Amino acid sequence: MKKKIILLVAVIFTLAMVGSAYAAKDCPQPRKTKKAPATVAKKKMPKSAKAANGKKIYTKTAKPMACKMCHGDKGAGDGKLGKAFKAPLAPRNFTCKKTMKKISPGQMFWIIKNGSKGTGMVAHKKTLKDKEIWDVIKYIRKDLMK
Ligand code: HEC
Repeated sequence: MKKKIILLVAVIFTLAMVGSAYAAKDCPQPRKTKKAPATVAKKKMPKSAKAANGKKIYTKTAKPMACKMCHGDKGAGDGKLGKAFKAPLAPRNFTCKKTMKKISPGQMFWIIKNGSKGTGMVAHKKTLKDKEIWDVIKYIRKDLMK
């Protein structure tokens, strides 16, 4: 009995390790995210967007939890919780150019606001103002994307 439990723990641990390696290294990332309506996808980032405030939201204040918990400190999709998800449900890896070059600021805005159904990416329309969403997009695009 005890042996079985030890074996089970070992298997779960190995799966978790494989999952984390996969999520962080996957580039390009398999991506099935819904497209924003064309009018939103084309939206430009306002010039007034503040990366410094975006960083605060990303690393600390976002609710229900900081973006970095899933997307990682450096945006590689390898946050503490992010590691638990596997592709195609892995958090977006913002450092992956091949995937990110197809994602416009307006597309990011749409998903941050409304979430991506069926994934861990929750909607923030009740917790972030539009201006704050743009601040966090500015931070991601300026400081995390490569
Ligand atoms: C609980 C984990 C989790 C948290 C917290 C989280 N995300 Fe995500 N995020 C995800 C996952 C998973 C995806 C991938 C969704 C998909 O493939 O459709 C994602 C995708 C995204 C995308 C890519 C959208 C696209 O079109 O590909 C952006 C941008 C994003 N998140 C920004 C944020 C921001 C900003 C925050 C904080 C305000 C945040 N996320 C918090 C898990 C999370």
